[in-house]
Amino acid sequence: MMTTQVVNPATEQVVTTLELVSAAETDAAIERAQRAGADWRAVAPGDRARLLRRFADVVDANIEQLAQLEVTNAGHTIGNARWEAGNVRDVLHFAAGIPERLLGNQIPVAGGVDITFHEPLGVVGVIVPWNFPMPIAAWGFGPALAAGNTVVLKPAELTPLTAVRLGELALEAGMPEGVFQVLPGKGSVVGQRFVTHPAVRKVVFTGSTEVGKEIMAGCARHVKRVTLELGGKSANIVFADADVERAAATAPYGVFDNAGQDCCARSRILVQRSVFDRFLELLEPAVRGVRVGDPGDESTEMGPLISAAHRVRVASFIDPSTKVAFTGTQPQGPGFWYPPTVVLPDTPSDRVLTEEVFGPVVAVVPFEDEADALRIANDTEYGLSGSIWTNDVGRALRVARGVEAGNLSVNSHSSVRYWTPFGGFKQSGLGRELGPDAALAFTETKNVFIAT
Ligand code: TAP
Repeated sequence: MMTTQVVNPATEQVVTTLELVSAAETDAAIERAQRAGADWRAVAPGDRARLLRRFADVVDANIEQLAQLEVTNAGHTIGNARWEAGNVRDVLHFAAGIPERLLGNQIPVAGGVDITFHEPLGVVGVIVPWNFPMPIAAWGFGPALAAGNTVVLKPAELTPLTAVRLGELALEAGMPEGVFQVLPGKGSVVGQRFVTHPAVRKVVFTGSTEVGKEIMAGCARHVKRVTLELGGKSANIVFADADVERAAATAPYGVFDNAGQDCCARSRILVQRSVFDRFLELLEPAVRGVRVGDPGDESTEMGPLISAAHRVRVASFIDPSTKVAFTGTQPQGPGFWYPPTVVLPDTPSDRVLTEEVFGPVVAVVPFEDEADALRIANDTEYGLSGSIWTNDVGRALRVARGVEAGNLSVNSHSSVRYWTPFGGFKQSGLGRELGPDAALAFTETKNVFIAT
């Protein structure tokens, strides 16, 4: 039997040892999900809604426990972890509104009536990364369940604890056996089975662009449906006409939240040249002021990286020739710490500008005018999110329309609301999660003509 040790990244202590699900057990779970599907899709819409609402209520009653688990397992700050558990509850409440609103069309035709149905797909496999274990899981399973699918979910091997707990809470809430199963295991074993098992009709994958491409290629063999949420290299564009003080004061939180392990991290700050020096002067105290430390402490703003190996990867972006403008603080002693770091790259081809660091490293570059800002912002394979700081509403809209990314914010860094669509352009992904159409990604449209 294979096991994995779950490690607290803030202390390097082993939290627990967990059994990993094998390929044969994955197959058995997928077959259970398939069998459970027949009954689940037949549950009356109002009853399915009620079960999802009850699931949301049980999650709500366990917010503190789930949050503490995430602090321990992923090193998330307690404030973030409470938000994340609350987000699961909210996604479930939103999903509970879906079954009774999964409306089809009635389309005018000659000689009869034409109607459409949104049929569930069957078994949906959700593959989750380690950076936001709770929300990313819920964005998949909430709407999938609401649309009448059954779900098998694989958390990342590094961060399985909250997902396993959510699986238990679903049963506690009265969700039928086999409808929602959590399978902690390896990507190469459990995740791969979701891709290759013919009964899994859709894979929702969030993770690296590299693995996402393999998943998509594997799914192609079965013409399996796929949603991909992949990497990012998002731009935070600061125009000279903006509130530069606020832009500088908030920029650290647009990139260092979750220690930069955020697909939406604004890891490139583009600043109009006329305010470039002033922006850096204002950014320095803001970066030094980020409170890095014990994630369980209420006042902490940034915790550790997820693992020792990941810290090595993040550090590899800074070599002796890198121009480091300034850094923030980090605690001493055990824990996979890395300080907030601001770099000034010399060339556009610097790795720190082209690759996703997925850590607390941000590059600041100057631009000349609006066209230059757009050119630099779009000079990347990625296109997930971004921010625009300006007090000119016309410019805000022009630039927002011009940036090739799925989620933009003006004079703000917020990207995620469970009732607005989320996803990437270009190699940041395929499809959208959340928002008003969330459930449609988990259905097939069926057209029925009835001769009268
Ligand atoms: P990955 O290494 O790609 O892993 C993501 C998930 O896929 C894990 O559960 C992993 O399992 C599994 N996996 C790995 N190889 C697999 C395979 N061959 N077949 C099936 N499943 C496989 O990414 P990561 O390092 O955990 O996460 C960081 C990446 O996720 C970043 O690039 C980040 O930008 C991206 N991300 C994107 C978004 C959105 S919404 N666009 C959100 C969060 C993160 P194991 O961990 O057990 O190997």
